Amino acid sequence: MTSVSPTLAVRRELRNRILVVTVDNPPVNALGVAVRCALSDVIEAAEHDAAVDAVVLIGAGRNFIGGADIKEFGKPPLPPSLPVVCNRIEACRKPVVAAIHGAALGGGLEIALAAHYRIALANARLGLPEVTLGLLPGAGGTQRAPRLVGAQAALDLMLSGRHVGAQEALALGLVDRIGETDDVLHEGLAYVQALLDAKAPTRRTRDASGLADRTASRAAIEAARVDVTKKSRGLFSPLKIVDAVQAALEMPFDDGLNHERQLFLQCLDSPQRAGLIHAFFAEREVLKAPETRHAKPRVLASVGVIGGGTMGAGIAVALLDAGLPVTMIERDDSSLARGRANIEKVYDGLIAKGRMTADAKAAVLARWSGSTSYDALATADLVIEAVFEDMSIKQAVFAELDRVCKSGAVLATNTSYLDIDALAASISRPGDVVGLHFFSPANIMKLLEVVVPAQVSADVVATAFELAKKLRKVPVRAGVCDGFIGNRVLAIYRAAADHMMEDGASPYQIDRAVREFGFPMGPFQVADLAGGDIGWATRKRRAATRDPQQRYVQIADRICERGWFGQKTGRGYYRYTDGARTGTPDPDVEAIIDSERERAGVTPRAFSNEEIMRRYMAAMINEGANVVHQRIALRPLDVDVTFLYGYGFPRHRGGPMQYADSVGLATVLADIREFAQEDPVFWQPSPLIVDLVERGATLASLNHAA
Ligand code: 3HC
Ligand code: NAI
Repeated sequence: MTSVSPTLAVRRELRNRILVVTVDNPPVNALGVAVRCALSDVIEAAEHDAAVDAVVLIGAGRNFIGGADIKEFGKPPLPPSLPVVCNRIEACRKPVVAAIHGAALGGGLEIALAAHYRIALANARLGLPEVTLGLLPGAGGTQRAPRLVGAQAALDLMLSGRHVGAQEALALGLVDRIGETDDVLHEGLAYVQALLDAKAPTRRTRDASGLADRTASRAAIEAARVDVTKKSRGLFSPLKIVDAVQAALEMPFDDGLNHERQLFLQCLDSPQRAGLIHAFFAEREVLKAPETRHAKPRVLASVGVIGGGTMGAGIAVALLDAGLPVTMIERDDSSLARGRANIEKVYDGLIAKGRMTADAKAAVLARWSGSTSYDALATADLVIEAVFEDMSIKQAVFAELDRVCKSGAVLATNTSYLDIDALAASISRPGDVVGLHFFSPANIMKLLEVVVPAQVSADVVATAFELAKKLRKVPVRAGVCDGFIGNRVLAIYRAAADHMMEDGASPYQIDRAVREFGFPMGPFQVADLAGGDIGWATRKRRAATRDPQQRYVQIADRICERGWFGQKTGRGYYRYTDGARTGTPDPDVEAIIDSERERAGVTPRAFSNEEIMRRYMAAMINEGANVVHQRIALRPLDVDVTFLYGYGFPRHRGGPMQYADSVGLATVLADIREFAQEDPVFWQPSPLIVDLVERGATLASLNHAA
């Protein structure tokens, strides 16, 4: 047995004339330049080494290979390129076998496709997720996968980016065999030995016949093109994937590979790639809040929820779905019954769609218990309050929690706007109080703002992050202020939209412009969905303290005064006839807007969609920067993740802060200053933006500073 180490990232070891090549590049064995060089060299050497009969490729640690090294994208390329490495593997005159455990994704799967045979362990996850990063498989994946599994299956993998398990991979023909144990080296060696014993040839995927039925392949490509054109809403790489598969059908392999390279480079250059990769790293970075580094989470085995309304019920479902037992507290028996019914409605909806069985529902609900007495919370590890948005009611609830909860219980509030510092200070254990701001519907929306009051203990914050993990939510750490990160910024760009509406743009045009930018809905559609009454109540509450200098558009109040609260009342900014969920423009609303313009003395003017978005985004970016400046958000990326997961911000633009950098902060600042000429109270440039522009720096430069 010999053991040579050409680089730290790739190890090789000869076992019984089989060369074991182990990619060992933690954390996910990404194919950085050191790995690419070493893999090329190792294959080259193996081919010329008379002591080697065959090669088995494996990954060290938990995965085979997680893909190309995403951190290298956007930097000058370093040879050898991954397609060259894959070609080198495929050209090897001795059998090369990929033995896959854990993730074989993107370039990782492309390496495996370039090998001559593939074996997967039961825990393998294979996929070509490049589309989720704004890319296409650029190391032969678009050419080899269709040849191996056919155009339709390959397109499905590449356009969805989904991961398939070992069984499905076998059924598709992506792998040849499934290992019986969880020892990847053992399984790989046994398979290679079996192939050697059978004198199996070096079978090359480029010669595989998956595209032999040209008519079916062409039909699959055309169907994919139609589907992508309809569904991918301005995304750049999906159509390029279809083009690349078409090349696989129409061109000889090497020409197809060259074509794939050109398309890949176009994707690499696109701002969408930059936005999507920013999102990939940002959603991992938010998990690393300072408290999670220093403190250990408390035990989290049982949870109480107070209130069974919209949010309480949704939060309870999220907790139940994560396998946690939930005790719900309500004011009285009938409210409790309504809370339970709200939960059941969610599961009944799943049953109606065939996504859950009645037995499964019963099993989940067996973990639920309800009470009108706070004493039922005596043993809860965590309690989440979701009662009416009223400080005195919440303080009364927290006084009860202070009385009954065991020492060390985490006491959380789902308040949207109230001062959590004040709430915490009202009880004897402020160190246990944290904000857990869920978004509606709480069992579906991924965002969880973890609001960190001044006196909270670090292990309580760590527990909140642990809870997010259990619930599969994306936590963002936020400081205490009116609206935290998301709703505070929302209030500002919503106001900008209101100003534009009064100045001459219709809500329908604004919604359209915002949708065309990539949001699933515009602000007025969102208002109709959420219900106008909530915002109206808040506006009335704040009327007395509102700055009289501040522009206040009254159109929403006029609409609410008519009882038009949106979808639930059949009318809002839109009309919803017969319970429809998509509204139609309403001439009566346009008439209200006209008369409000007159009352305010505004001469309406035309807005282009481009100007609408400049103003909308400038407002969002400016307040996002303020939130960072005041340390409500730790870094710009925390604002980005908040908007990606809580507000439907188009992922391919990376979030408002990343978008600001892509437009150029100087341009954004110039816009704000231009708009400030009309309304200097509303448009005050964030000191952070001014400072960054003066220094020629980007918001992204602050992402690693916290
Ligand atoms: N390149 C660089 N770093 C990567 C990476 C990659 N391909 N994949 C993951 N990482 C990093 C993460 O950023 C994270 O870093 P951190 O600890 O500093 O935050 C660390 O590895 C661990 O990642 P996860 O927390 O995601 O680990 P999990 O165990 O939960 O998941 C995984 C592992 C399934 C491999 C997941 O990381 C993943 O999905 N990675 C991306 C896979 C992918 O998209 N591959 C395609 C890349 S593009 C490509 O290959 C182009 C080619 O066609 C030319
Ligand atoms: P809701 O009105 O639907 O439900 C509130 C529930 O609390 C009611 O069922 C009520 O019976 C119960 N309740 C009131 N006082 C109680 C008490 N003293 N003890 C026990 N139960 C009591 O309200 P919703 O929308 O669920 O909001 C709850 C909280 O969540 C509020 O603080 C709100 O600001 C916040 N929130 C709301 C969001 C939304 O989209 N609706 C989003 C995020 C947070």
